Amino acid sequence: MQLKSLEDTQNLSSKISKIVGVSDIIFLYGEIGVGKTTFVRFLINHLEAENGIKKSDVLSPTFNIVYEYDIGDTKILHYDLYRLKNYKDILQLGMFEISNNHIKIVEWPELIDTKPKDRIDIQFQYSKLMDYRTVQINGFGKWKDYKFDAV
Ligand SMILES: Nc1ncnc2c1ncn2[C@@H]1O[C@H](COP(=O)(O)OP(=O)(O)OP(=O)(O)O)[C@@H](O)[C@H]1O
Ligand SMILES: [Mg+2]
Repeated sequence: MQLKSLEDTQNLSSKISKIVGVSDIIFLYGEIGVGKTTFVRFLINHLEAENGIKKSDVLSPTFNIVYEYDIGDTKILHYDLYRLKNYKDILQLGMFEISNNHIKIVEWPELIDTKPKDRIDIQFQYSKLMDYRTVQINGFGKWKDYKFDAV
């Protein structure tokens, strides 16, 4: 799928925001500046708008590793693991403890070697025309047969 503009990213975020729920986890792959945080910002802002909550400034959690957003009873945990060096650091975040009121979205998930069984992977790439992005979405576990192309 192609994202030719921020509006396309916004539409995709909106559609994904409608299908994810508590205990879901999304991994976002792709080079620096390809649009992962932008996707998360739109997704969180959509959920806030739908729940009558004022839009947050969704900033990159590069230095803090994780930022949290409350959407009613649901918490969005937005991670950026870019600065972490090994899997042990990730385990210390408690990221894989069972939670039934969290949606987790993870930029730079490459270091995670035991990946959660149920997850959505979104791979962003620069297109040859530079300003465009392409995305590929793959579901695993309970998302395995989900038709993301149709979202
Ligand atoms: N679909 C798009 N079309 C055009 N520009 C975009 C698109 N998506 C994101 N951008 C722009 O790309 C820039 C970088 O985006 P962003 O911070 O989301 O990247 P990132 O993948 O999170 O990078 P990092 O790996 O450093 O966290 C922003 O200025 C944003 O406006
Ligand atoms: Mg980012």
